[in-house]
Formats: sequence, structure tokens, C-alpha cells
Amino acid sequence: MAKDFDVVVIGAGPGGYVAAVRAAQLGKSVACIEKWKNPKGELALGGTCLNVGCIPSKALLASSEEFEKVSHHLADHGITVEGAKIDLAKMLARKEGIVTKMTKGIEFLFRKNKITWLKGHGKFVSKGDAGYQIEVSGEGEAETVTARNVIIATGSKARHLPFAKVDGTLVADNEGALSFDSVPKKLAVIGAGVIGLELGSVWRRLGADVTVLEALPEFLGACDVGVAKEAAKIFKKQGLDIHLSVKIGSVTTSDKGVSIQYADKDGNAQTLDADRLIVSVGRVPNTDNLGLENIGLGVTERGFIEVDDHCRTKLPNVYAIGDVVRGPMLAHKAEDEGVLVAEVIDGQKPHIDYNCIPWVIYTSPEIAWVGKTEQQLKAEGREIKAGQFPFSVNGRALGINAAEGFVKVIADAKTDEVLGVHIIGPNASDLIAEAAVAMEFKAASEDIARICHPHPSLSEVMREAALAADKRAINM
Ligand code: FAD
Ligand code: NAI
Repeated sequence: MAKDFDVVVIGAGPGGYVAAVRAAQLGKSVACIEKWKNPKGELALGGTCLNVGCIPSKALLASSEEFEKVSHHLADHGITVEGAKIDLAKMLARKEGIVTKMTKGIEFLFRKNKITWLKGHGKFVSKGDAGYQIEVSGEGEAETVTARNVIIATGSKARHLPFAKVDGTLVADNEGALSFDSVPKKLAVIGAGVIGLELGSVWRRLGADVTVLEALPEFLGACDVGVAKEAAKIFKKQGLDIHLSVKIGSVTTSDKGVSIQYADKDGNAQTLDADRLIVSVGRVPNTDNLGLENIGLGVTERGFIEVDDHCRTKLPNVYAIGDVVRGPMLAHKAEDEGVLVAEVIDGQKPHIDYNCIPWVIYTSPEIAWVGKTEQQLKAEGREIKAGQFPFSVNGRALGINAAEGFVKVIADAKTDEVLGVHIIGPNASDLIAEAAVAMEFKAASEDIARICHPHPSLSEVMREAALAADKRAINM
């Protein structure tokens, strides 16, 4: 087997595997080093996203949403279902089946594109005239390969709290929380971020009483303030009990479950007893034992590898992408950086507009946005106008019994350029793509307003919100 490659990618998550495929499409000889082992002890491609992130969480969100519909919402359609029950083992097996299908799909892509999968842990050893030497160890005998270009795509791992030992069962991060073997009666969640809300929603819909403890005084601070307010109202109605401004003191476990001592927003000591706890307080970049010191590459104070707008590190021909570098920890951001770097290596001049990367929180209703929030634009002193339109008067939303929320389009007051679009509502994850296209093309809100949208469809709410930015919504 060849031991030197045009491109060696370390990590086969959405950043790494996409970079490998694109580099192979451009005619490079490519190897990708990956060490992930699934619960069966088999090596697997796909990284966090496919194994314990985006894909399994969305599978469980879908299953739990079906259960919630059958239990609480089908009656609205005049359909009565009695005795709906959960077969959790089957639900988890379905999720694992989807994960296996997807991760095996990447093995297929590697074969199709003649990408060599180097199985094991990758570590920089040195830099020589022919390129960078990288040792691959862990499966059989260690071997060293040479790379003319290296793409570091080692991703991230869950941040843990020093006083809450994660055992995956009583106290879990995202990995354990995607595989609880029973529905907890009482579930505590530390961190009201994306994982806390998504996985908190899964277990709430399956029957858990969920209490979320969040350190910050503001709920969903990254969202547009109007969306965050609406979300807080809706989640409360659904039964998610969210406490802001808390300070966690300690976490103790016993055969009865988990006990969390914390100070509430007024500083009063409180105890929360639960059957299980999810710790979802952010993620940290993965550079463990990567041998960066052997090639003279450091990390920032927060552990990220420093890169420029084209994901170049300070070393020639060494790039880093995805969760291990600055920017949002999102799979599609990692994928776009993977394509970008492969094209840079090929001598092309690609570009990513980070302002046009959409965000989605897969709660029900979904939350999605692209561009800037009203509060960010006001802080920048921009003169803006905003149009907002609710799903409650949209025929399709009423038809599918999902009429909560709204679309808000923010545009420059003078030029009408779209600066941000914020959605809380059904299928927001799909609807936001139109806004991302509009912003990439520097569209005006009038452009969206003039485009014929299908009727009846949820997308009409986007058009009406754009019309509302010019105070001429038709259906309100
Ligand atoms: P990763 O996916 O973390 O992959 C890195 C890979 O590198 C891993 O497979 C690891 O084993 C490997 N690796 C690390 N070091 C080495 C080494 N030295 N040698 C060999 N291999 C190594 N994002 C979204 O956009 N949408 C979502 O819906 C979404 N849902 C999520 C849900 C959860 C529960 C979690 C935890 C995350 C979710 N994310 C989501 C975030 C998304 O998973 C990450 O942003 C994305 O996986 C980052 O991709 P990456 O390629 O940078 O790294
Ligand atoms: P997060 O950054 O979204 O949220 C963490 C929350 O925990 C924050 O609100 C923070 O204030 C709070 N927190 C931190 N320390 C705390 C403490 N000691 N006590 C109480 N609260 C505390 O991180 P999360 O949810 O762990 O997710 C990690 C990342 O994974 C996300 O930022 C996102 O990039 C990615 N992700 C994306 C998803 C999507 O795109 N739909 C889904 C899930 C994860």
C-alpha cells in the first residue's frame, strides 16, 4: 500500500470525510485516518455527527414526536388511538440502524472515490522534505505515512463539569443521553443550549418530567430575542421546566439517582433530585495526543487550532476545519470547510460567507435562523426594518396542525438588503434554506416578496414576512 499521499485527512466526521471526497474528486491521492469505535466495538466513519450527534438525535426526535402526536395530537384530527405504548429497545434499535446505514454509506463513498481509510489514531511525528510524517496506531502494528498536505478534522467532544462525573447512565453527556435504556421519570439537564433542548424534548415527549438548569440569565441568547421569547413560552407550555441564572454547586449520585445542589436566580439554595442527569454545557475541540508540538503548531487558550479565513494554519500545507477551529460547531459548516480546503489545495479560490451559515434547533416547533439578529444589528447601529408573519393564519400550517410561531425578516432600512431571517415554526430547518440562498445572493426583502411561492405551503409565511418588512403583507 502506498505510504505517501497528496492529502491525509485526520478525522472522518462531516468535515473530514467531505474534504477527503472532494480532494479525491479533484484527482488527489487521499487517505483519511479515523479511530472511532461504535458500541459493538467496530470501527466506524462519520464522526460525532453520524455516530452520536446530528443523525441519532434526529432519529429519536422523530420517534418521540410520533409518540407525542399519537398520545396528544391525533385526537385533534378526529382520530382516536388508545393504549399507545413505547418499545424503547425498538426505538433505539431503529436509531442505531439509521446510524449504521449512514456510516456504512461513507465506507462506500471512500471505496467509490479510492480513498484509503487508515484505521487508528493519527499523530504528527515530524516534518520532512517530502511532507509531514503521521503515525497511525491502535489497530495492529503502527505505521507512518507521509502527507504533502494535511487536513486536521478531529472535531470536538462534550465538555464535562469537574464535579459531575459522567458515567453514561446516571450522569450522561450526549452519548449516554442518546441511549438511555429506560425513560427516566425525572430527568435533570444542565445547560439550556441546543443539546439540552433537543434531548430534553426527546425524553419529555417519551414521558419524563424534565427540569433544565441554565447558568445564563437569558434564554437562547444566540437567537433573535423575539424568537427566544416565543420559544420560552411554547416550551413552558409543553412542560419543559427551565430555570435560568442558576449556579450549580454539586452533583451527587446514589442508588436512588442523582441529586443536584444549586443556587437559584435569587441565590437561594435548592436541591433537584432526578433519576438521571444530562450534562450539556458545550463542547471542546479535540487535539488529544495529536502531536501538534512535533510540528510546532499550538492551540488557542480555549484549545482550538488557529486558522485564517481559508482554514490555513500557520504551517504551510497544514489546514484545520470543523469543530476543532473557530466558528459554529455545526456539521454543515464543517462540510463546507472540507470542500473549501480541498479546493484551496487544488489551487482554486473558494470562499465561505460565515454570515450565511444557517442554524437550526430541532425542537418542536423548530427554530432556525441565518444572518444577524435584531439585537446584534441594533448594537451595530444599523438602521433596519423588520417584517414578521405568523403561521397561525397559514392554511397549510393549520392543515398539518402546526400553526405555532412565525417568520421574521430583517432588512436594511435603506437598501432593503436582507440581513437576517429568523423562524420558529414547522419545518423551519427546510424553510431557512430559502433565506440562506437569498442572503448568499444579497437579495432584498422585496426579491423574496416578489417570488411566486406555492400555495398552500409553509413557505408562503416567508413571503408574507418579506412583504411585512414593507408593511404590505396580504393576509394580515
Ligand atoms: P467530528 O464529527 O467530531 O469528527 C471528528 C472525528 O475525528 C471523530 O470521528 C474522531 O474519532 C476523529 N478523530 C479525532 N482525533 C483523531 C485522531 N487523532 N486520529 C484519528 N481520528 C481522530 N450539527 C448540525 O449541524 N446539526 C445537528 O443537528 C447537530 N446535532 C448534534 C447533536 C448532538 C447530540 C451533537 C453532540 C452534535 C450535533 N451537531 C449538529 C454538531 C455536529 O455533530 C458537529 O458540528 C460536527 O460533527 C463536527 O464535524 P467535524 O468533522 O469537525 O468533527
Ligand atoms: P451549547 O453551547 O449550545 O449550550 C450550552 C449551555 O450550557 C449554554 O446555554 C451555557 O450557558 C450553559 N452552561 C454552561 N456551563 C453551565 C453550568 N456550569 N451550569 C449551567 N449551565 C451551563 O452546547 P451544547 O448544547 O452542549 O451543544 C454543543 C454544540 O453542539 C452546540 O453549540 C452546537 O454547535 C452543536 N449542536 C448542534 C445542534 C444543531 O445544530 N441542531 C444540535 C446539538 C448540538
